[in-house]
Amino acid sequence: MVVYLIGFMGTGKSVVGLKLSRKLNIPLLDMDDEIVRRDGRSIPEIFAQDGEDAFRDMEEALLREIAYSDKDLIVSCGGGIVLREENRRILKENPYTVQLLAMPQTIAKRAGGDPNRPLLRDTVSVDEIRSRMEKRMPLYRECASLNILTDSYTSNETAKRIIDQLDLEESRRKETGSKA
Ligand code: S3P
Repeated sequence: MVVYLIGFMGTGKSVVGLKLSRKLNIPLLDMDDEIVRRDGRSIPEIFAQDGEDAFRDMEEALLREIAYSDKDLIVSCGGGIVLREENRRILKENPYTVQLLAMPQTIAKRAGGDPNRPLLRDTVSVDEIRSRMEKRMPLYRECASLNILTDSYTSNETAKRIIDQLDLEESRRKETGSKA
């Protein structure tokens, strides 16, 4: 089973991924962290030195590797994963792709001005965040089987709601039972 968490920057994909990983006892793979670990540079450095397209190539290659690896994983994706068609095809095919959502005000508080996010580093205006989110929204929706609001929930509660709404514990039991 692979659970993909997608959604705009600052919607809580990494922290909810960690909770899901603990609750379901499935390893977590944070795509941004994995790209940084393999490349040896930070995301802002990759963007600045090689350009956004080079980062998107690394992202696409990693997603493909995950999708064809047959490993059980919780995958916290970078916010721009849905920009490429091949990535959307992979995400759509998977029954456990979940979009996390948050209000632009929440995103601004959580991630606005973050030096580690080249696309949000200089963006502090809520209107700017809203307009960027709206552009990506159809792409996230196209890929996700479940869309879940995070604003008024803790990461633990969000993880629990995902597990319940997708019946993940039962699916996991069936999978591990049939592998044994
Ligand atoms: C990006 C989101 C980031 C990271 C990169 C680009 C985006 O990930 O992959 O800075 O285009 O939305 P998070 O969503 O984890 O911040």
